[in-house]
Amino acid sequence: MSATIIDGKAFAAEVRAKVATHVAKLAEQGIKPGLAVVIVGDDPASQVYVRSKGKQTVEAGMESFEHKLPADTAEADLLALVDRLNKDPAVNGILVQLPLPEHLNEDLVINAIDPAKDVDGFHISNVGLLATGQKAMVPCTPLGCLMLLRDHFGSLSGKTAVVVGRSNIVGKPMAQLLLRDSCTVTIAHSRTKDIEDVVRGADIVIAAVGRAEMVTGEWLKPGAVVIDVGINRLPPVEEGAKGRLVGDVDFASASAVAGAITPVPGGVGPMTIACLLANTLTATCRANGLDEPEGLTA
Ligand code: GUN
Repeated sequence: MSATIIDGKAFAAEVRAKVATHVAKLAEQGIKPGLAVVIVGDDPASQVYVRSKGKQTVEAGMESFEHKLPADTAEADLLALVDRLNKDPAVNGILVQLPLPEHLNEDLVINAIDPAKDVDGFHISNVGLLATGQKAMVPCTPLGCLMLLRDHFGSLSGKTAVVVGRSNIVGKPMAQLLLRDSCTVTIAHSRTKDIEDVVRGADIVIAAVGRAEMVTGEWLKPGAVVIDVGINRLPPVEEGAKGRLVGDVDFASASAVAGAITPVPGGVGPMTIACLLANTLTATCRANGLDEPEGLTA
């Protein structure tokens, strides 16, 4: 193996520590950031995320408000809760955990959140602000990837970047952020012709397709920096055991060719919640007309 391992777990701890320091300063001015997390239904993976979010919010010195609603919650009731949170001055950030049960319209719910409190950066206003290079709330996972890349390279200007995956949550905002940092950006996806050749042209590869170990070492330019957003559980090798967690990159072959690579777990994953806390802090500073924390925004 030749690649440097990009330690997202350690970097996320640094981000959380910076957030906590800033939150302590706000406390001296009588300001306590508050993050409201709304979860509908009992999807086990979502429950694990939400618990972890709540715990880390409190550890950073912020207020955590958790709203657990039953799976059959009516859309009007969910919208009424969002409206209450929009109006609540103790709430600076609102996150509605996705996916929502099928009978609920995700776009409608997300776009009901006050854009200034939209710490996920999913509201159509924030999407538009990001796309036009204006001050936006930026989705947490792409923001975390950007922080890791800036830390690794210093400047990203002039780098060739390929984002594999075109989701609204990761692929598209990731491409916008890389463009903003003056990369030459390509978005590749399931219909891209000769995808291996496209990826092989990249100095930076972001894998966010949700397909286990799809990107192999053969797809990479030697020395490329690889950010693996995927979290996939492989089938268990024996009955009753848990399958191994892997990314969208085949770590064994990729790490022999790449210059640097994020592992799974311990790469991008921990950065997502750290950036959620950073976004909550940013939203609080903006709401109070205060300077934004340095190094914690896009
Ligand atoms: N479900 C999986 N990832 C996310 C995320 O980043 N935000 C929200 N709201 N839901 C998610």
